[in-house]
Amino acid sequence: MKTESANGNGNVVLRADDVWKSYDDGAITVLKGADFEVTAGQTVALCGPSGCGKSTLLHLFGGLDEPDRGRVSVNGTEINRHSNLLRLLRHEVGFVFQLHNLIPDLTLEENCLIPTVAAGTDQRSAQARLRHLTDRTGLSHRRDQRIQKLSGGERQRTALCRALMNKPKILLADEPTGSLDEQTSATVFELLLDIVATEGVTLVMATHDRGLAARCDRLLEMHEGRIDESVSVR
Ligand SMILES: Nc1ncnc2c1ncn2[C@@H]1O[C@H](COP(=O)(O)OP(=O)(O)OP(=O)(O)O)[C@@H](O)[C@H]1O
Ligand SMILES: [Mg+2]
Repeated sequence: MKTESANGNGNVVLRADDVWKSYDDGAITVLKGADFEVTAGQTVALCGPSGCGKSTLLHLFGGLDEPDRGRVSVNGTEINRHSNLLRLLRHEVGFVFQLHNLIPDLTLEENCLIPTVAAGTDQRSAQARLRHLTDRTGLSHRRDQRIQKLSGGERQRTALCRALMNKPKILLADEPTGSLDEQTSATVFELLLDIVATEGVTLVMATHDRGLAARCDRLLEMHEGRIDESVSVR
């Protein structure tokens, strides 16, 4: 069951509750009591200087790491103690990595099909979904191309397709346009916003780009290991 938000504005799909995270046996403490919640369908920009902990926070929501203290919940389920974490991650959350993490020797199609194999999706549905996403992202003609032969923008769009293959309702995007020039970045971001709007996906995106952040419903600023939402974008 989903949890109602404190302000009654909808279902809370992501919640960080006094989250602490350090590395190197406590030598560096990155998150120092991060608290926030995101309701279904929102687009949220996560901003802050390099090294402030944006990727760390997204990784916790993606189940890629665990907090030292506090709770991180997805759809009302605390993910670090989830008995079926893999199911949650394969079906409910999509992740676009900062360095896209595509396998360079495999083709666009092969990269995108990996999460569907992990999720046990039948091949016909997976192929139909891939056709749809590559059409939407203008990549249909590149499906058989190896990743190493794709441009930066094509790789980022491929990473977006891969993250959306299992129709997640939550997309965590870590600098999804970070490595691109301004024009390509704007194009990929428009596409991202368009897809999340039509598919009803909740988006949390780490970004340095204030222009992109201003296009989101909310701006969360990371400051000294906590979340500050005093700077509103709307
Ligand atoms: N696995 C790790 N082991 C040790 N330190 C780490 C690890 N991962 C991250 N850190 C450190 O934690 C801090 C936060 O890193 P993080 O990658 O979350 O920052 P960020 O806000 O995403 O930065 P950027 O904008 O450069 O991507 C940095 O000082 C980083 O060096
Ligand atoms: Mg980062």
